Amino acid sequence: MQRVRKAVLPVAGLGTRFLPATKAMPKEMLTVVDRPVIQHAVQEALASGIEQLIFVTGRGKTAIEDHFDHAFELEATLAARGKDEALQTVEATNFPPGTIAYVRQQEPLGLGHAVWCARHVIGDEPFAVLLPDDIILGDQPCLAQLLDVYENLATDNGANLIGVEGVEPEMTRKFGVLDIDRWLDDETSFIAKGIVEKPRPEEAPSNMAVFGRYILDPTVLKHLDKQERGTGGEIQLTDAIDASIREGVPTLGHLCEGRRFDCGSKEGFVLANVAYALQDDLMGPSLRRAIQELVRED
Ligand code: UTP
Repeated sequence: MQRVRKAVLPVAGLGTRFLPATKAMPKEMLTVVDRPVIQHAVQEALASGIEQLIFVTGRGKTAIEDHFDHAFELEATLAARGKDEALQTVEATNFPPGTIAYVRQQEPLGLGHAVWCARHVIGDEPFAVLLPDDIILGDQPCLAQLLDVYENLATDNGANLIGVEGVEPEMTRKFGVLDIDRWLDDETSFIAKGIVEKPRPEEAPSNMAVFGRYILDPTVLKHLDKQERGTGGEIQLTDAIDASIREGVPTLGHLCEGRRFDCGSKEGFVLANVAYALQDDLMGPSLRRAIQELVRED
């Protein structure tokens, strides 16, 4: 398979579920413990071997660009004061020039439209999509797990590979859901014969829900060119993937290892903070005791 070098990170959504926090601040800059949600996704992509990140931004998102840029005054001040550890932490958010490209989605017309806005930078090669709302705590980066599977696929037609998780039937209406053709021998991957956006439980083809990690064949962009509106009046990535399946591009779902947190919802975001903080050597033990006490008092 052709190597996956580029990842698209759509960050142009309005983040209405977090208002008023997101009135003047992008939701991707909300922090899970000590770093913005977006940094978790960026670190995952780079740790998985991705070379170029394409951010699809919108109005009011400049804090994201600033976060991944030099902060000259801050860096000079930390250096002058000998705060080496803090300086290293700040410097770790800078990458070699050209690592990140920014394209603008002028109107939030949907996830499919956001990905389509990156088409010229993606070009004609397979690419990853990471939705920064989802952060995954585990031993191996989630995208690296998908890339391992992808690189070992043997097809002449390219492929789409999508991270999935099993959900309770009543939850299907919140996700894209894959229609399973057949499971592969390892029982962690299956071939899909379709995909539906946010189906009602009685209409869902399975309980295999798509979360925010994809490796996509560039033919998906051709389907997005049509700018067709789907569920909720939005241009849906799901619909373009479905068209690509119907065109004969092999499409697989893969169950990744690790615990996923949906930081696009308040509950998932709070839970992610607790889980990541509990992993911290310094604050983990005392936090665990404090949480147990809180729960007892509740
Ligand atoms: P969401 O469905 O979570 O929407 O988008 P949202 O606007 O970010 O948040 P809420 O629902 O209003 O609280 C999923 C992902 O797709 C991106 C978002 O930034 C997020 O990463 N997105 C969505 C875009 O970039 N553009 C869009 O038009 C829609």
